[in-house]
Amino acid sequence: MARAVIVGSGSEIAPVQVTNSMLARIMDTSDEWIQERSGVKTRYFVEPGTATSDLAAGAAGRALERAGVGREEVDLVVFATMTPDHYFPGSGGILQKKLGLKAIPCFDIRQQCVGFLYGLQLVDAHIRAGLAKTVLLVGAEIHSGFMPWTSANWDYMYGRGDVPPTPEEFAWNTRFRHLTVLFGDGAAAVVLRAAGDGERGIVDQILHTDGADYDKLYVPGTGFARRPYTDPEQFRQGDHIPVMDGRYVFKMATTRMLEVAQDILKRNGVRVEDLAMVLMHQANKRINEYCQKSLCIPEEKIVHNIERYGNTTAATIPLLWDECASGGRIRPGDLVLMVAFGAGMSWGATLVRA
Ligand code: ACO
Repeated sequence: MARAVIVGSGSEIAPVQVTNSMLARIMDTSDEWIQERSGVKTRYFVEPGTATSDLAAGAAGRALERAGVGREEVDLVVFATMTPDHYFPGSGGILQKKLGLKAIPCFDIRQQCVGFLYGLQLVDAHIRAGLAKTVLLVGAEIHSGFMPWTSANWDYMYGRGDVPPTPEEFAWNTRFRHLTVLFGDGAAAVVLRAAGDGERGIVDQILHTDGADYDKLYVPGTGFARRPYTDPEQFRQGDHIPVMDGRYVFKMATTRMLEVAQDILKRNGVRVEDLAMVLMHQANKRINEYCQKSLCIPEEKIVHNIERYGNTTAATIPLLWDECASGGRIRPGDLVLMVAFGAGMSWGATLVRA
């Protein structure tokens, strides 16, 4: 059976860079706290009016071009995002329209930080089953819509306005600081095709979800567990902003990422020495440093982009892939391990022969 092999990648970063000190203009936080606790130095945000599918279209266009694949050849789209353009329909079809692709199946998948790995499994299964030949898989997010700041706060943060937050606004923004300082906007895409003879392609995957603790990281409002699914009271309460038990999620992320990485290496008889690169989800640099140390992964096999981009959820791993592939750190034939943990709670690992 032909495996899915990544034949091209591309990314699209949002245009406006925001430093930690800029965030400190509108909430009680500091560059020192953010860097020390998370590793984030900057993140990038879109301007209002740009949707997740816009960033995705930029990344996907570049990936198709690098792969030398024509738009008419794409026969499946898989779009991983937790920040879709609309409640419905899914963003996959919107991306299909923006790229001018023919009428093809388009999936949206909702596994947050592990969305790209869940997407790879879906794509690989389609290719192995002969249901698709040329697939576009995208991880894209616009987290800036979650930020609880007023438009005057945004302007003040950017230095475009001179109206500082009121004490009430400052306190409101500070209530969500443990979450908002971590995230940025971004997108990356890969093109996958059926591998020819040889070893290239997706070697193995292990995916898990355990919903027992889903409410340790979730959006309590704007959902159909309520009637109506959204209303002004929910906004007054802040129920449209994600809730995160940071310490709990941190503990689970370190435990689960380490476990699943060890499991996939053992199951495939792969040693760390056999790996060219390890791409870990970028939620907190300290989580990844713990896993790196526990797995004895040398520095040259690890890449981070959380310093520059913050957590871009479904986009972190394809962004890392694109940076490594275009910078020559991942070459055809290299064995690469991907590992992620996120809301759901979901986690997983993938072994890919580039
Ligand atoms: N600036 C300044 N102080 C802050 C900030 C901030 N931005 N945020 C929190 N603090 C304060 C807290 O109020 C607390 O103060 P207190 O001691 O006076 O009560 C203190 O800092 C420590 O807070 P903790 O929450 O214990 O800090 P911690 O070291 O755990 O770091 C963090 C918080 C960064 C959120 C960390 O817990 C983390 O990264 N968790 C995991 C995140 C993650 O992996 N998410 C999954 C992926 S996202 C997804 O799936 C969508």
